[in-house]
Order: sequence, then C-alpha cells, then structure tokens
Amino acid sequence: MAIALKGRTVVVVGGSSGMGLAVARKAAAEGALVHAVGRSGDRLLAAKATIAGEVTLHEVDICHEAEVAALAVNIGPIDHLIITAANNVFKPFVDITTSDIEAMLWTKLWGAVHLVRHFASRLAADGSITLFGGVAAHRASPGASIVAALNASMEGLSRTLALELAPIRVNTLAPGVVDTPAWDFLPKADRSHTMAIMGSSLPVGRVGRSDDLADAALFLMTNGFTTGTVLHVDGGANA
Ligand SMILES: NC(=O)c1ccc[n+]([C@@H]2O[C@H](COP(=O)([O-])OP(=O)(O)OC[C@H]3O[C@@H](n4cnc5c(N)ncnc54)[C@H](OP(=O)(O)O)[C@@H]3O)[C@@H](O)[C@H]2O)c1
Repeated sequence: MAIALKGRTVVVVGGSSGMGLAVARKAAAEGALVHAVGRSGDRLLAAKATIAGEVTLHEVDICHEAEVAALAVNIGPIDHLIITAANNVFKPFVDITTSDIEAMLWTKLWGAVHLVRHFASRLAADGSITLFGGVAAHRASPGASIVAALNASMEGLSRTLALELAPIRVNTLAPGVVDTPAWDFLPKADRSHTMAIMGSSLPVGRVGRSDDLADAALFLMTNGFTTGTVLHVDGGANA
C-alpha cells in the first residue's frame, strides 16, 4: 500500500522553482506539511503564493554546511527529503571556468552531502530521500561534461545511501529536458524554438513539464518497495 503524504513533513530543497516547486505544490495538495528551501526570499515568497496548502519557507544556501545544520535543527523530524537544487552551466569543457565548476559542485554534490548528513538522523524509518540526477549522465551532449559528471554522482551516492541508511529509502530521479526557469539563460527569442526542437527529437514529441517529474517524485516518496534505484523520466531520451 502506498505511504500517504497527509500530515507528513516533506522538505523540498529547490522548492521555489521548476520541478522542486511542482513537487511542493503536489505534496501540499496531498496534505503534506511542506518546507520549501532556496537562497532567494523573493523567489520563495512568489512560489508560496502558488502553493495551496501548508508551506514554510527557509532562506538557506545549501553550499554552507552551518546553514544546513541550523535548518535541520530548526525543522526537526521529517518524513521525506527531496533535493532538486542545482546551478548548472553548459559550456564546452575547454571554456568552463573553475568558478563555474565550483558553483555546480558546491550546490549539487556538497549541497546533497550537507543535507543528507544533517537530516539522515531526523528522517522517519518509512521516509525517503530523493536526489535529482539527469539525462546528461546517460546521453552525452557537448557542453554538459560537468553536468553529466555531477548527475552521475547523484546515482552513485543514492545507491550507496540506500544500503547505509536502510530502511530509509533513497533514490535518484533522472529527468530529461524539462522546461523550467533553469533554461532562462537561453535568449528569449530562441527559447520556445529550442524547446520545440529538443522535444521533437523525443519519442513523446515534447520536452518535459515540471508536473511530469513531480508525479514521479511523489511516486518515489510513497512507494515503500522502491529504493536504490534511478527512475528515468525523460520522454524516451534513453530509448
Ligand atoms: N530542467 C532540466 O531540463 C533538467 C534536466 C535534467 C536534470 N535536471 C535537474 O533537475 C533538478 C531541478 O532542475 P530545475 O530545472 O527544476 O531547476 P531550477 O528551476 O533552476 O530550480 C533550482 C532551485 O534550486 C534552488 N537553489 C539553487 N542553488 C541553491 C543553493 N545553493 N541553496 C539552496 N537552494 C538552491 C533555486 O532557488 P535559489 O536560486 O533562490 O537558491 C531553485 O529553487 C536539478 O538538479 C537539475 O540538475 C534538470
């Protein structure tokens, strides 16, 4: 039987945008007590206005372990931890700078490490952790070398944690291209055309929507038999 989310505490790191915001909305709609985490207070407030249900906002930079430690003490016991936060930079490997790489690495890898380190002992035995990887780890694309490496690191981390933290379940959700604010770096004039081109190359004929991935994240939270796995929700990119 699926684990109900009603009355359960769900921490969504990255809950102010894109897929994290969609997870926060769907979990709150199921009656969960949602904690949305991000760096920008303005983004969090704008997100909260779109969430029907109980949500508490936390302005925290997960790159800083002391902030994450204080967050964990502040929130206390939880049922589910979902980490979508990333600051991806797409550039050819020869052009990517050390500060680009550091920003990506600190958020995606160190951020996840800080969060798991400080929340693991506060998670319910029937709770879960969901990390976000991505299709770049499986389908190479020029400009995505560091993104690919970090997405792959989420898979290795979650599989190992699924054994070490059992019975807490730990999984990675691997999205394909999903139309979120992460793509706002594209010139406005080209954005919808680029999305259409990327979508037309997929068996489903479109890129993903945040809700597609939020549905999958809710599955990983509520299915008590799923752990140590990588769930690909990518429109068929891996087919
Ligand atoms: N979109 C895609 O096509 C795609 C494809 C494959 C994989 N993915 C993966 O899916 C995940 C979600 O992507 P998305 O497109 O939904 O991202 P997004 O819309 O850019 O949202 C990122 C969220 O993370 C927060 N964040 C970033 N750095 C943070 C930090 N240091 N501390 C706390 N919060 C931080 C952001 O808020 P603040 O900026 O205010 O902190 C925001 O809420 C990412 O892990 C991404 O790598 C995305």
